[in-house]
Amino acid sequence: MKIEEIKIEDLHPEEFIKQKVEEISSIVGTGLAVNALSGGVDSSAVTMLGHKALGNRLKTYFIENGLMREGEPQKIAALFEKLGVHIEIVDAKAQFFKALKGLTDPEEKREAITQTFYKDVFGKLVKERSAKYLLQGTNYTDVEETVAGIKRQHNILEQLGIDTQEEYGYKVIEPVIQLRKSGIRKVAETLKLPKGIYNRPPFPGPALAARVIGECTSERVETVRKATKIVEQELCNTGAFQYLAILHEDKVTGIREGKRDYGLQIEVRCWNSKDAITGSPTRLSYETLDKLAEGITTEVPGVVSVTYNVTKKPPSTIEAI
Ligand code: XMP
Repeated sequence: MKIEEIKIEDLHPEEFIKQKVEEISSIVGTGLAVNALSGGVDSSAVTMLGHKALGNRLKTYFIENGLMREGEPQKIAALFEKLGVHIEIVDAKAQFFKALKGLTDPEEKREAITQTFYKDVFGKLVKERSAKYLLQGTNYTDVEETVAGIKRQHNILEQLGIDTQEEYGYKVIEPVIQLRKSGIRKVAETLKLPKGIYNRPPFPGPALAARVIGECTSERVETVRKATKIVEQELCNTGAFQYLAILHEDKVTGIREGKRDYGLQIEVRCWNSKDAITGSPTRLSYETLDKLAEGITTEVPGVVSVTYNVTKKPPSTIEAI
Protein backbone atom coordinates (compact mmCIF):
# COMPACT_ATOMS: atom_id res chain seq x y z
CA MET A 1 0.00 0.00 0.00
CA LYS A 2 1.47 3.36 -1.02
CA ILE A 3 -0.31 5.45 1.60
CA GLU A 4 1.78 6.07 4.68
CA GLU A 5 -0.02 5.77 8.00
CA ILE A 6 0.32 8.57 10.56
CA LYS A 7 0.22 6.79 13.91
CA ILE A 8 -1.67 8.46 16.73
CA GLU A 9 1.56 9.00 18.72
CA ASP A 10 3.10 10.84 15.75
CA LEU A 11 0.07 13.03 15.05
CA HIS A 12 0.22 16.76 15.83
CA PRO A 13 -3.38 17.81 15.13
CA GLU A 14 -2.75 21.57 14.69
CA GLU A 15 0.06 20.98 12.23
CA PHE A 16 -1.94 18.30 10.43
CA ILE A 17 -4.93 20.65 10.05
CA LYS A 18 -2.75 23.50 8.75
CA GLN A 19 -1.09 21.22 6.23
CA LYS A 20 -4.35 19.69 4.97
CA VAL A 21 -6.07 23.08 4.66
CA GLU A 22 -3.15 24.27 2.54
CA GLU A 23 -3.21 21.10 0.44
CA ILE A 24 -6.95 21.35 -0.24
CA SER A 25 -6.64 25.05 -1.15
CA SER A 26 -3.80 24.46 -3.55
CA ILE A 27 -5.42 21.44 -5.26
CA VAL A 28 -8.85 23.06 -5.71
CA GLY A 29 -7.42 26.48 -6.61
CA THR A 30 -10.19 28.94 -7.39
CA GLY A 31 -12.69 26.23 -8.37
CA LEU A 32 -15.47 24.47 -6.50
CA ALA A 33 -15.48 21.24 -4.53
CA VAL A 34 -18.32 19.18 -3.13
CA ASN A 35 -18.53 16.72 -0.29
CA ALA A 36 -21.03 14.47 1.40
CA LEU A 37 -21.55 14.72 5.12
CA SER A 38 -22.98 11.73 6.97
CA GLY A 39 -22.41 13.08 10.47
CA GLY A 40 -19.77 10.49 11.28
CA VAL A 41 -16.46 11.71 12.63
CA ASP A 42 -14.60 11.14 9.32
CA SER A 43 -16.92 13.10 7.05
CA SER A 44 -17.46 15.75 9.74
CA ALA A 45 -13.70 16.37 10.09
CA VAL A 46 -13.35 16.55 6.31
CA THR A 47 -16.26 18.99 6.06
CA MET A 48 -14.56 21.32 8.55
CA LEU A 49 -11.16 21.01 6.84
CA GLY A 50 -12.78 21.76 3.48
CA HIS A 51 -14.76 24.63 4.93
CA LYS A 52 -11.60 26.16 6.43
CA ALA A 53 -9.80 25.79 3.11
CA LEU A 54 -12.55 26.81 0.70
CA GLY A 55 -15.34 28.57 2.61
CA ASN A 56 -18.38 28.90 0.35
CA ARG A 57 -16.56 27.19 -2.51
CA LEU A 58 -17.19 23.89 -0.74
CA LYS A 59 -20.77 22.66 -1.23
CA THR A 60 -21.72 20.10 1.38
CA TYR A 61 -24.57 17.66 0.86
CA PHE A 62 -26.25 15.20 3.12
CA ILE A 63 -27.37 12.35 0.89
CA GLU A 64 -30.63 10.98 2.25
CA ASN A 65 -30.27 7.44 0.92
CA GLY A 66 -33.12 5.99 2.99
CA LEU A 67 -30.55 3.95 4.92
CA MET A 68 -29.79 6.39 7.73
CA ARG A 69 -30.87 6.30 11.35
CA GLU A 70 -34.09 7.97 12.52
CA GLY A 71 -34.06 11.76 12.14
CA GLU A 72 -30.36 11.78 11.23
CA PRO A 73 -30.32 14.00 8.11
CA GLN A 74 -32.18 16.87 9.85
CA LYS A 75 -30.22 16.49 13.10
CA ILE A 76 -26.83 16.64 11.41
CA ALA A 77 -27.77 19.46 9.03
CA ALA A 78 -29.01 21.55 11.99
CA LEU A 79 -25.84 20.90 13.96
CA PHE A 80 -23.57 22.06 11.12
CA GLU A 81 -25.74 25.10 10.38
CA LYS A 82 -24.97 26.14 13.98
CA LEU A 83 -21.26 25.84 13.16
CA GLY A 84 -21.75 28.12 10.15
CA VAL A 85 -21.65 25.37 7.50
CA HIS A 86 -24.62 25.17 5.17
CA ILE A 87 -25.78 21.64 4.37
CA GLU A 88 -28.13 20.71 1.57
CA ILE A 89 -30.16 17.54 2.08
CA VAL A 90 -30.57 15.59 -1.17
CA ASP A 91 -33.42 13.11 -1.28
CA ALA A 92 -32.05 10.08 -3.14
CA LYS A 93 -34.07 7.37 -1.37
CA ALA A 94 -35.81 6.10 -4.49
CA GLN A 95 -32.53 5.78 -6.42
CA PHE A 96 -30.86 3.71 -3.68
CA PHE A 97 -33.80 1.34 -3.16
CA LYS A 98 -34.13 0.84 -6.89
CA ALA A 99 -30.45 -0.10 -7.10
CA LEU A 100 -30.74 -2.48 -4.14
CA LYS A 101 -33.87 -4.22 -5.40
CA GLY A 102 -33.48 -8.00 -5.59
CA LEU A 103 -29.86 -8.03 -4.35
CA THR A 104 -28.89 -10.36 -1.51
CA ASP A 105 -25.13 -10.82 -1.93
CA PRO A 106 -23.21 -8.50 0.46
CA GLU A 107 -20.61 -7.37 -2.06
CA GLU A 108 -23.24 -6.81 -4.75
CA LYS A 109 -25.21 -4.64 -2.33
CA ARG A 110 -22.07 -2.65 -1.49
CA GLU A 111 -21.31 -2.23 -5.19
CA ALA A 112 -24.87 -1.02 -5.89
CA ILE A 113 -24.56 1.58 -3.12
CA THR A 114 -21.14 2.70 -4.40
CA GLN A 115 -22.37 3.12 -7.97
CA THR A 116 -25.56 4.93 -6.95
CA PHE A 117 -23.64 7.27 -4.68
CA TYR A 118 -20.69 8.14 -6.93
CA LYS A 119 -22.22 7.87 -10.36
CA ASP A 120 -25.93 8.62 -10.18
CA VAL A 121 -26.14 11.00 -7.23
CA PHE A 122 -22.73 12.68 -7.03
CA GLY A 123 -21.94 12.54 -10.73
CA LYS A 124 -25.10 14.61 -11.29
CA LEU A 125 -24.48 17.06 -8.43
CA VAL A 126 -20.89 17.67 -9.47
CA LYS A 127 -21.97 18.33 -13.04
CA GLU A 128 -24.75 20.69 -11.97
CA ARG A 129 -22.30 22.61 -9.83
CA SER A 130 -19.41 22.44 -12.33
CA ALA A 131 -17.21 21.20 -9.50
CA LYS A 132 -14.08 19.22 -10.25
CA TYR A 133 -13.36 17.75 -6.85
CA LEU A 134 -15.07 15.56 -4.31
CA LEU A 135 -13.69 15.63 -0.76
CA GLN A 136 -14.23 12.51 1.26
CA GLY A 137 -13.33 10.98 4.60
CA THR A 138 -11.67 7.72 3.62
CA ASN A 139 -9.51 6.48 6.50
CA TYR A 140 -6.51 4.18 6.73
CA THR A 141 -8.50 1.18 8.01
CA ASP A 142 -10.97 1.46 5.09
CA VAL A 143 -8.11 1.18 2.64
CA GLU A 144 -6.40 -1.62 4.50
CA GLU A 145 -9.51 -3.82 4.71
CA THR A 146 -10.48 -3.23 1.10
CA VAL A 147 -7.00 -3.91 -0.24
CA ALA A 148 -6.82 -7.05 1.93
CA GLY A 149 -10.08 -8.15 0.26
CA ILE A 150 -12.05 -8.40 3.53
CA LYS A 151 -14.80 -5.98 2.58
CA ARG A 152 -15.10 -3.50 -0.18
CA GLN A 153 -15.60 -0.29 1.80
CA HIS A 154 -17.96 1.83 -0.24
CA ASN A 155 -15.62 4.84 -0.35
CA ILE A 156 -12.55 3.12 -1.75
CA LEU A 157 -11.98 3.95 -5.39
CA GLU A 158 -8.50 4.92 -6.48
CA GLN A 159 -6.86 2.24 -4.35
CA LEU A 160 -8.84 -0.29 -6.39
CA GLY A 161 -7.55 1.22 -9.61
CA ILE A 162 -10.71 3.20 -10.36
CA ASP A 163 -9.98 6.43 -12.23
CA THR A 164 -12.67 8.67 -10.75
CA GLN A 165 -12.06 11.39 -13.31
CA GLU A 166 -12.80 8.98 -16.13
CA GLU A 167 -15.57 6.98 -14.39
CA TYR A 168 -17.46 9.76 -12.66
CA GLY A 169 -16.11 13.04 -14.02
CA TYR A 170 -14.38 14.35 -10.88
CA LYS A 171 -11.28 13.85 -8.78
CA VAL A 172 -11.38 12.66 -5.19
CA ILE A 173 -9.43 14.35 -2.37
CA GLU A 174 -8.99 12.30 0.81
CA PRO A 175 -7.48 14.49 3.55
CA VAL A 176 -7.66 11.96 6.42
CA ILE A 177 -6.61 8.82 4.56
CA GLN A 178 -3.39 8.48 6.56
CA LEU A 179 -5.23 8.41 9.88
CA ARG A 180 -7.15 5.78 11.75
CA LYS A 181 -10.33 6.62 13.62
CA SER A 182 -8.53 7.57 16.86
CA GLY A 183 -6.39 10.11 14.96
CA ILE A 184 -9.43 11.53 13.16
CA ARG A 185 -11.17 11.99 16.53
CA LYS A 186 -8.21 14.08 17.73
CA VAL A 187 -8.31 16.19 14.56
CA ALA A 188 -12.09 16.64 14.88
CA GLU A 189 -11.73 17.77 18.49
CA THR A 190 -9.00 20.23 17.51
CA LEU A 191 -11.30 21.52 14.74
CA LYS A 192 -13.74 22.38 17.57
CA LEU A 193 -16.43 19.99 16.48
CA PRO A 194 -18.79 19.14 19.38
CA LYS A 195 -18.05 16.10 21.57
CA GLY A 196 -21.16 14.36 20.26
CA ILE A 197 -19.42 14.31 16.87
CA TYR A 198 -15.77 13.63 17.69
CA ASN A 199 -16.72 10.88 20.14
CA ARG A 200 -19.42 9.37 17.96
CA PRO A 201 -19.34 5.59 17.55
CA PRO A 202 -18.44 4.65 13.97
CA PHE A 203 -21.27 4.15 11.51
CA PRO A 204 -20.62 2.43 8.18
CA GLY A 205 -20.76 4.17 4.80
CA PRO A 206 -23.45 1.79 3.47
CA ALA A 207 -25.36 2.76 6.65
CA LEU A 208 -28.16 0.43 7.79
CA ALA A 209 -27.73 -1.62 4.60
CA ALA A 210 -24.62 -3.08 6.27
CA ARG A 211 -26.98 -4.47 8.90
CA VAL A 212 -29.67 -6.04 6.76
CA ILE A 213 -28.87 -9.62 5.77
CA GLY A 214 -30.64 -10.45 2.53
CA GLU A 215 -32.62 -8.01 0.43
CA CYS A 216 -32.53 -4.40 1.52
CA THR A 217 -36.07 -3.09 1.05
CA SER A 218 -37.35 0.07 2.69
CA GLU A 219 -39.54 -2.06 5.01
CA ARG A 220 -36.60 -4.20 6.13
CA VAL A 221 -34.46 -1.10 6.69
CA GLU A 222 -37.28 0.37 8.78
CA THR A 223 -37.20 -2.74 11.00
CA VAL A 224 -33.47 -2.38 11.58
CA ARG A 225 -33.86 1.38 12.08
CA LYS A 226 -36.38 0.84 14.89
CA ALA A 227 -34.18 -1.83 16.52
CA THR A 228 -31.10 0.43 16.17
CA LYS A 229 -32.85 3.20 18.07
CA ILE A 230 -33.52 0.88 21.01
CA VAL A 231 -30.00 -0.58 20.96
CA GLU A 232 -28.42 2.89 20.88
CA GLN A 233 -30.63 4.18 23.71
CA GLU A 234 -29.84 1.16 25.85
CA LEU A 235 -26.10 0.89 25.17
CA CYS A 236 -24.93 4.50 24.71
CA ASN A 237 -23.57 4.66 28.26
CA THR A 238 -21.60 1.41 28.15
CA GLY A 239 -18.47 3.08 26.76
CA ALA A 240 -18.38 0.39 24.06
CA PHE A 241 -16.66 1.09 20.74
CA GLN A 242 -19.74 0.36 18.64
CA TYR A 243 -23.17 -1.23 19.11
CA LEU A 244 -25.68 -2.23 16.49
CA ALA A 245 -28.73 -4.23 15.49
CA ILE A 246 -28.79 -6.63 12.56
CA LEU A 247 -31.84 -8.02 10.79
CA HIS A 248 -31.46 -11.68 9.83
CA GLU A 249 -32.78 -13.14 6.62
CA ASP A 250 -34.24 -16.28 8.19
CA LYS A 251 -37.50 -16.19 10.04
CA VAL A 252 -38.24 -18.30 13.10
CA THR A 253 -41.34 -19.62 14.79
CA GLY A 254 -42.43 -17.51 17.72
CA ILE A 255 -45.52 -17.26 19.84
CA ARG A 256 -47.68 -14.27 20.62
CA GLU A 257 -50.91 -14.20 22.57
CA GLY A 258 -51.05 -17.98 22.45
CA LYS A 259 -50.78 -18.10 18.65
CA ARG A 260 -47.98 -19.12 16.31
CA ASP A 261 -46.10 -16.08 15.01
CA TYR A 262 -43.55 -16.82 12.29
CA GLY A 263 -41.39 -13.76 12.69
CA LEU A 264 -38.14 -11.85 12.34
CA GLN A 265 -34.84 -12.22 14.18
CA ILE A 266 -32.70 -9.32 15.36
CA GLU A 267 -29.10 -9.83 16.41
CA VAL A 268 -27.48 -7.29 18.74
CA ARG A 269 -23.73 -6.69 18.66
CA CYS A 270 -21.79 -4.55 21.11
CA TRP A 271 -18.04 -4.27 20.54
CA ASN A 272 -14.99 -3.47 22.58
CA SER A 273 -12.30 -2.37 20.18
CA LYS A 274 -9.56 0.21 19.77
CA ASP A 275 -9.43 0.56 16.03
CA ALA A 276 -12.05 -1.80 14.53
CA ILE A 277 -9.32 -4.14 13.28
CA THR A 278 -9.99 -6.60 16.06
CA GLY A 279 -12.84 -6.60 18.53
CA SER A 280 -14.46 -8.55 21.30
CA PRO A 281 -18.05 -8.56 22.48
CA THR A 282 -18.79 -6.39 25.51
CA ARG A 283 -19.80 -8.44 28.55
CA LEU A 284 -23.20 -6.84 28.95
CA SER A 285 -25.15 -7.61 32.09
CA TYR A 286 -28.02 -10.04 31.78
CA GLU A 287 -30.30 -7.26 32.92
CA THR A 288 -29.24 -5.15 29.93
CA LEU A 289 -29.70 -8.06 27.54
CA ASP A 290 -33.12 -8.65 29.01
CA LYS A 291 -34.10 -5.00 28.45
CA LEU A 292 -32.91 -5.19 24.85
CA ALA A 293 -34.95 -8.31 24.16
CA GLU A 294 -38.02 -6.86 25.83
CA GLY A 295 -37.72 -3.49 24.06
CA ILE A 296 -37.08 -4.91 20.61
CA THR A 297 -39.78 -7.58 20.69
CA THR A 298 -42.42 -5.16 21.96
CA GLU A 299 -41.51 -2.07 19.91
CA VAL A 300 -40.34 -3.46 16.59
CA PRO A 301 -43.21 -4.99 14.62
CA GLY A 302 -42.71 -8.57 13.52
CA VAL A 303 -39.68 -9.43 15.67
CA VAL A 304 -39.99 -12.60 17.75
CA SER A 305 -36.35 -13.35 18.53
CA VAL A 306 -33.36 -11.32 19.79
CA THR A 307 -29.87 -12.77 20.02
CA TYR A 308 -26.54 -11.37 21.24
CA ASN A 309 -23.33 -11.98 19.27
CA VAL A 310 -20.58 -13.51 21.44
CA THR A 311 -18.01 -13.92 18.67
CA LYS A 312 -14.75 -11.96 18.47
CA LYS A 313 -13.46 -10.17 15.35
CA PRO A 314 -11.88 -12.17 13.74
CA PRO A 315 -13.55 -14.40 12.65
CA SER A 316 -16.63 -12.15 12.87
CA THR A 317 -16.55 -8.66 11.41
CA ILE A 318 -18.13 -5.70 13.16
CA GLU A 319 -20.98 -5.23 10.68
CA ALA A 320 -22.96 -8.07 9.14
CA ILE A 321 -22.37 -7.54 5.44
P1 XMP B 1 -16.09 -4.43 9.68
O1 XMP B 1 -17.53 -4.78 9.54
O2 XMP B 1 -15.32 -4.52 8.40
O3 XMP B 1 -16.07 -2.90 10.12
O4 XMP B 1 -15.41 -5.20 10.80
C1 XMP B 1 -14.92 -2.20 10.53
C2 XMP B 1 -15.33 -0.79 10.84
O5 XMP B 1 -15.63 -0.10 9.62
C3 XMP B 1 -17.00 0.29 9.58
N1 XMP B 1 -17.45 -0.04 8.21
C4 XMP B 1 -17.46 0.86 7.22
N2 XMP B 1 -17.16 2.17 7.20
N3 XMP B 1 -17.63 2.26 4.89
C5 XMP B 1 -17.26 2.87 6.05
O6 XMP B 1 -17.01 4.09 6.02
C6 XMP B 1 -17.96 0.95 4.82
O7 XMP B 1 -18.28 0.44 3.76
C7 XMP B 1 -17.87 0.23 6.06
N4 XMP B 1 -18.10 -1.08 6.38
C8 XMP B 1 -17.84 -1.19 7.70
C9 XMP B 1 -17.70 -0.52 10.64
O8 XMP B 1 -18.85 0.15 11.13
C10 XMP B 1 -16.60 -0.67 11.68
O9 XMP B 1 -16.48 0.45 12.52
